[in-house]
Amino acid sequence: MPTQKVVTEQYGEHVKTCQSRWAGALAAEGFDAAIIHAGSEIISFLDDYIYPFRPNPHFLSWLPLTHHHDSVLIVQPGKTPVLHYYQPDDYWYLPPADPEAWWADQFDLNSERSAKAWEKSVPAGRVAFIGDAPCLADRENLNPSRLLNRLHLERTRKTPYEVACMAEAGRVAAFAHREAERAFREGCSEYQIHQRYCQAAGLVDAELPYGNIVALNENGAVLHYQERLHQRPEELHAFLIDAGATQQGYASDITRTYAARQGVFSEMIEAMDALQQDLCSGMREGVDYRDMHLEAHRKIAGVLAAFGIIRVSPEAAVETGLSSVFFPHGLGHFLGIQTHDVAGLIADVEGTEIPRPEGHPFLRLTRVLESGNALTVEPGLYFIDSLLRRWREQGDASAIDWTKVETLRPCGGIRIEDNIVVTGGEPLNLTRPAFG
Ligand code: GLY
Repeated sequence: MPTQKVVTEQYGEHVKTCQSRWAGALAAEGFDAAIIHAGSEIISFLDDYIYPFRPNPHFLSWLPLTHHHDSVLIVQPGKTPVLHYYQPDDYWYLPPADPEAWWADQFDLNSERSAKAWEKSVPAGRVAFIGDAPCLADRENLNPSRLLNRLHLERTRKTPYEVACMAEAGRVAAFAHREAERAFREGCSEYQIHQRYCQAAGLVDAELPYGNIVALNENGAVLHYQERLHQRPEELHAFLIDAGATQQGYASDITRTYAARQGVFSEMIEAMDALQQDLCSGMREGVDYRDMHLEAHRKIAGVLAAFGIIRVSPEAAVETGLSSVFFPHGLGHFLGIQTHDVAGLIADVEGTEIPRPEGHPFLRLTRVLESGNALTVEPGLYFIDSLLRRWREQGDASAIDWTKVETLRPCGGIRIEDNIVVTGGEPLNLTRPAFG
């Protein structure tokens, strides 16, 4: 397991940025203060077990407190933010540890035994309440959409602290990815590979940013494959793993694909890897991500043509929708506290949607890139039975070499995904260096 490095550098600067962003957003929307509730635990119906806790991302964007339900942050422009830090006197569950100076020094901190203590400190004036805790349900000005849109647009530009957290999440995930590849080469089942991944990352399932996708053979063609079969296939062809890690609430989101042996599929992986790197290097300020998505389609169609899987030009494949049979998802998405981070599709504080290119309903990022954006680049190429069948029945069946498709079907698919930060110059790839 890699020794986890807590990111403390530049945290003070990050909090200052949060203060100035919130002060600007509150003033613009006519609010005097905001109450940001971390969230409360959810108990399963007719039972006394608690679902894994996921904090309010707005709370996390201020504080590295990932397991801290019922803490509350009060933000008032021009004042030090006040943290009501919930530390119940509990012997059923372990309460949060005492605050650590490196983060706590940025706040006026009150340690609270009661989850309701903050209610006595709601500032006067017009107050926005942010979160989904049941205790907020009757409040006026709960999650005002214009205020949230403003903050979401701000959050698309990551601070140096946030980039450092994401880099560390990438380092941990890359270490675990290597262990997963070893497990695949040793002939482990999906279940065993998943366990090896978690052990190497030092994370339990609930701490992963999203459910690991651990897919052997044709299961790689299920985009969000969720099973972890105990039985390994008799013959191994391929392995697709889409798995990340979290650091202080920030995610990495990485995919790799491996072939069991040299041959056409391993050559296709190399071709996809090369085009993925090309796309990564194009993630620059001022570039419209929609153009990069369409460029990915042209490049993937080029691979399909070069390997004789399709019998039309790459341009024709994109034009007719044939490339979407093999690449049916978006090129990527914003990344941050949320794996699919906020504001990928919105133009302004009204939340006006920036349209996706026609025929590309699953693209999650349609904005023009700015310095500080963190995003994924994840082109894919899959052999998906239902989409192939539909094309065969409703499209130009002669455009596909069905014999080739049949030989490659057992390999499932290829996806290669890195995490990129847009800068004023060369894009910063957080993933490749982590693999070494
Ligand atoms: N890598 C998982 C997802 O983007 O949904």
